[in-house]
Amino acid sequence: MKKLVSVSIATVALFGLMSTAQADVRTYRTACMACHASGAAGAPKLGDKAAWKARIAQGMDILVKHAVEGKGAMPPKGGRMDLSDAQIKSTVAYMVGESK
Ligand code: HEC
Repeated sequence: MKKLVSVSIATVALFGLMSTAQADVRTYRTACMACHASGAAGAPKLGDKAAWKARIAQGMDILVKHAVEGKGAMPPKGGRMDLSDAQIKSTVAYMVGESK
């Protein structure tokens, strides 16, 4: 019973987090997840701390620049040129937050 209660609390906490970052999660799911969930073409997977460590160390400005302009097999804006630079920046912040 105690375990069930703490699981429920964790679930509620998770949903709370999701609502604040909902727009970023949606962008991630529709524009980035295809590669960043599976690691397709060498993409750093969401939540894979080891894969993100050196990338995060470059600093947010460089990460965002690479996400906007593209890098290696990563197309500019993940191929979603309809997304604004601000949307990309915010989605990168979400991905980094989930991966460190
Ligand atoms: C077609 C597959 C693909 C899609 C879609 C994609 N990525 Fe990537 N992404 C990659 C690959 C591959 C790399 C690794 C590039 C490298 O380091 O050579 C990468 C790397 C990155 C990096 C790290 C850049 C760095 O400096 O190390 C960020 C940040 C990133 N992607 C953000 C995003 C965001 C945000 C989206 C959605 C808007 C997205 N990606 C969509 C394939 C993709």
